[in-house]
Amino acid sequence: MAARGDHDSGAPARDGYDRGIVSPVTNVTVRVPAKVNLQLAVGPVRADGYHSLVTVFHAVSLFDEVTVAPAERDGVVVTGEGAAGVPADGSNLAVRAAAALLQAAGPGVQDAPGLAIRISKRIPVAGGLAGGSADAAATLVACNELWQAGLSQRDLGELAAGIGSDVAFGLVGGTAIGMGRGERLTPALAAGRFHWVLAFADGGLSTADVYAACDRVRAARDRAGGPESGPAGEPVLDNALMAALRSGDPAELGPLLSNDLQAAAISLRPGLRRTLAAGQELGALGAMVSGSGPTCAFLARDRRHAQKLAAELAGAGVCRGVAQVTGPAPGACVITGAAGQM
Ligand code: C5P
Repeated sequence: MAARGDHDSGAPARDGYDRGIVSPVTNVTVRVPAKVNLQLAVGPVRADGYHSLVTVFHAVSLFDEVTVAPAERDGVVVTGEGAAGVPADGSNLAVRAAAALLQAAGPGVQDAPGLAIRISKRIPVAGGLAGGSADAAATLVACNELWQAGLSQRDLGELAAGIGSDVAFGLVGGTAIGMGRGERLTPALAAGRFHWVLAFADGGLSTADVYAACDRVRAARDRAGGPESGPAGEPVLDNALMAALRSGDPAELGPLLSNDLQAAAISLRPGLRRTLAAGQELGALGAMVSGSGPTCAFLARDRRHAQKLAAELAGAGVCRGVAQVTGPAPGACVITGAAGQM
């Protein structure tokens, strides 16, 4: 992290520590959800290389946990789902988030020379569920708490946007409309609780590769002519989908789910077609690739239907594994912050 070595061990301890009034928090754990996109409308490529988006983020109850603690040296340990695929160096989004927070708060906030980050993963890596972004969001919240840095939710949101397009949403969770490249958020009204089944694939897909494939699919379509050819227009929010969310009726919502990256993800992973078809045949109210994939998300009528769908999909041999989840789920929140061992 940037501040490694910046620490002045001779600096006075923060007020309160000396007098023993405040016991130092020695580790903080934050829980953070995965997301699916209920709508993902991809517009033209912007001057900065990103695509302009209108998306409806929906956090679901599949959580990673990030624990931070003061340490002699910086380090990151990743355990759980797909841990081997997560970089443990400065390219790790959680490491970047801690560095960004430290820079914003000033190196004086850190009580120890280094920071230990432990990421316990349940959200698959490169799965289209914003797992890496979630870990970055969790790290921002955890370090803000550990270092008592006092950054507001708004400050954290600005730092988040500089780390990745989906990080800001990990902070707020729930259901929200994302604009710009996905980082400009407005909370959305959604009634009740929706029941989902996620079908995980073997391996991941790179978000950048899927956007590039989307550009290729569109270019090929344009060369072929036809009704959908021509430059991608600015994306627009689907008002019918917003109304279905407010109604809380999954039967209304299911047919309105849409993802402009789906064809691109399928072009890179043709097997996803089978997974989606299996879910539809098994009675899912809606079936889509989640974000840039390759995870597929299926909307169920209720908890019991989701249970049945999950069991049948798992048995159909069309995916690596399944998870039954609900949404909306809350954004990154501190679950433990205590004086104790990490
Ligand atoms: O912002 P994030 O790091 O999550 O984006 C990963 C990659 O996905 C970007 O480098 C870019 O290639 C692509 N992307 C895009 N348009 C967006 C968001 C992401 O082209 N709105």
